Amino acid sequence: MTRGAILSGLGTWLPPQVVTNDMLSSELDTSDEWIRTRTGIGRRHIASPGMSTGHLATEAARRALKSAGTDRVDVVIVATSTPDRPCPATAPVVASALGLTGTGAFDVAAVCTGFVYALATAAGLITGQVADSALVIGADTFSTILDPRDRTTRVIFGDGAGAVVLRAGDRAEEGALRGFDLGSDGTGVDLITVPGGGSEQRLSGTEAAPGDQYFHMDGPQVFTRAVRYMTGSVRKVLDAAALAPEDLAHLVPHQANVRILDTCARELGLPAERVVKNIDRVGNTVAASIPLALAAGAADGRLRAGDPVVLTGFGGGLTWGSALLTWPGGLTVIDG
Ligand code: COA
Repeated sequence: MTRGAILSGLGTWLPPQVVTNDMLSSELDTSDEWIRTRTGIGRRHIASPGMSTGHLATEAARRALKSAGTDRVDVVIVATSTPDRPCPATAPVVASALGLTGTGAFDVAAVCTGFVYALATAAGLITGQVADSALVIGADTFSTILDPRDRTTRVIFGDGAGAVVLRAGDRAEEGALRGFDLGSDGTGVDLITVPGGGSEQRLSGTEAAPGDQYFHMDGPQVFTRAVRYMTGSVRKVLDAAALAPEDLAHLVPHQANVRILDTCARELGLPAERVVKNIDRVGNTVAASIPLALAAGAADGRLRAGDPVVLTGFGGGLTWGSALLTWPGGLTVIDG
């Protein structure tokens, strides 16, 4: 037997408040028609005041632990770019809220690729025998960093959390993570960024420029690079396993924009029905996007035991990454 990391639990949580395209159109110069045709988004969930990323992460994690039938793990990793505080990390607070005080806990920041990076880290800890189990949570509340007047970002992002439990097992069994590809290009730092509030701006001795506390994105540039890097990364992780795109049962991509997903599918030669999409209901939920899409694909019965599945993400940094796994048998997803 070769030691591997096995997906054994999956849970999600969305804050109850729903914001429709019509609601956004009542306060911004946009329309339901523009948002649907340009992004594929119909609505998104937004955290209410007092509800932090840590709250969302804890709720999703509770459900993932229940799905795995356990209340203990050896390590807790939170992928987020909207931590509860700039310092310390959110993961120790989440671990304690779950009754896991004493457990190793840390954050991973890779924006929309955060969940793939955190999953790779957890799988490495398990295969390297540092841990026998791990809780990996993707959670973000991007609504807290968006400029309320910016129609280009307000329409895209939603809040949410999704979590998985990994356990040690045999690399050959169903549910095993079989390979990863991770990449970055820091020359694209300005394409997806909150420019103010960090050490760079503080150490320059200048006040943050007006608006620099908010999230900025170069939409058209991001669009092109998302397609290029996600398709390249999917090909790499498949090549390493001697698989071709047509061998894939399903691709579960970061839900950035439905046109990005359709273009990736076309470039990989994948029929549209093999690409899992839930962006219409939740928008782009950043680090929560992939686990929420996994839950949607499992709930509608598309992801079946033994299926080869690739997760792929792209985001700020720039960062990108993919994971290949076989879908586990007997997994009960718990949504909230
Ligand atoms: N409602 C109405 N019009 C809008 C709008 C909105 N919400 N947002 C932008 N527009 C306008 C622009 O101002 C522009 O108007 P102009 O032609 O008069 O200048 C026009 O629509 C086209 O803008 P453009 O930015 O070229 O549109 P686009 O087709 O590229 O779509 C995005 C914009 C943001 C939807 C698209 O670029 C995108 O999804 N990019 C990727 C974003 C993403 O995935 N980010 C997360 C990365 S992980």
